[in-house]
Amino acid sequence: MVAIGVPAEGEDEPRIGLTPETVKKLVKQGATVTVRSGAGLRSHFTDKDYTDAGANIAKTDEEAVRDADIVLTVRRPPLALVKSMKKGAALVGMLDPFADDAGLDTLAKTGVSLFSMELMPRITRAQVMDVLSSQSNLAGYKAVVDAAAAFQRALPMMMTAAGTVPAVKVFIMGVGVAGLQAIATARRLGAIVTATDVRPAVKEQVASLGAKFIAVEDEEFKQAETAGGYAKEMSEAYKRKQAELITEHVKNQDIVITTALIPGRPAPKLISKEMIESMRPGSIIVDLAVERGGNAELAKPGEIVEHNGVRIFGLLNLPGSLPVNASSLYARNLQAFVEPMIDKDKRALAINWDDEIIKGTAIARDGAIVNAMIAERLGKGGKS
Ligand code: NAI
Repeated sequence: MVAIGVPAEGEDEPRIGLTPETVKKLVKQGATVTVRSGAGLRSHFTDKDYTDAGANIAKTDEEAVRDADIVLTVRRPPLALVKSMKKGAALVGMLDPFADDAGLDTLAKTGVSLFSMELMPRITRAQVMDVLSSQSNLAGYKAVVDAAAAFQRALPMMMTAAGTVPAVKVFIMGVGVAGLQAIATARRLGAIVTATDVRPAVKEQVASLGAKFIAVEDEEFKQAETAGGYAKEMSEAYKRKQAELITEHVKNQDIVITTALIPGRPAPKLISKEMIESMRPGSIIVDLAVERGGNAELAKPGEIVEHNGVRIFGLLNLPGSLPVNASSLYARNLQAFVEPMIDKDKRALAINWDDEIIKGTAIARDGAIVNAMIAERLGKGGKS
């Protein structure tokens, strides 16, 4: 039997990588599932929900993982817990592959195979496993809802006998998965929405959601998407032109949601202090990129900073503030990822190391880092 173990997450992580729904699917595939008692409570899944679905309950994290062939987590777990896993077992979670390389190296040395879901290749077959999409979508929604709740004006236009309430203007910067959902949510709330991105493919998507696209559309812009569908770092000249355009636009916006990211790099700085100072008091900026350095100057992780009456929200872990949905989607991503690792006939762990999805997400195998990017940063040369 392939054993799957799920420990509890740390105090600041309400999500969990296993739901009663995915327990049922995993058990059907021939796995046994053990979950740490109480681990699902912050996502409103009780121990009974898990046992009804076919899981066993462990009293401690160590007991949940020590016999497991596959351990499912949300965040990078502590070293002590990984040390208590079997050598050759697989740890699957959001291991934060762009941070703390030395910590990853130490985890690798335990002999546990590490898989980081953030590194999922963006191919059609892997869409169901794409945790960045499933979680960013919720973050985009929640950013708008939080901004709307904090903003001291109604979002939609209202025509009343006492006069007309004007619609507010919402500007979305970075139209990936989070940005698209932010546009859709702001539109549903009746705001006038504009959006910007450096990838030309986005223009049509923005229009189809009823928002207006704003960008410097020069030759560089036309080439700005990588084969993987991500943004490239833009030239200084482009950034300057873009900043001029955005400076003029931001002055008249009420709510700005920034989501711009470039994989493996700090978030691009898109909103300067001067731009913030040009906005009307009461305006709100939500910086979803704050964990990666932020798109807005003055944004601070985990804080709401007020400057000249403009509030800049550096909210952390927005998907975690919708833990029921976030865990459900994340757990489905994980279940889809581990399903091919379970050999149903031999009832054993069978990782196909030649598979593109495995190669893309694997960080460590047999005690060594196998991800070229991380190996290079650690000065160990690429061994991908
Ligand atoms: P992301 O989270 O890496 O970045 C967010 C957005 O910021 C991107 O649209 C990016 O172009 C934009 N950005 C970067 N620098 C900027 C700048 N200076 N100014 C303005 N915007 C800037 O992106 P995300 O959400 O991961 O999506 C990227 C693309 O990948 C999308 O087209 C998405 O549809 C696609 N995708 C494909 C999947 C698949 O095929 N398996 C799965 C998920 C997404």
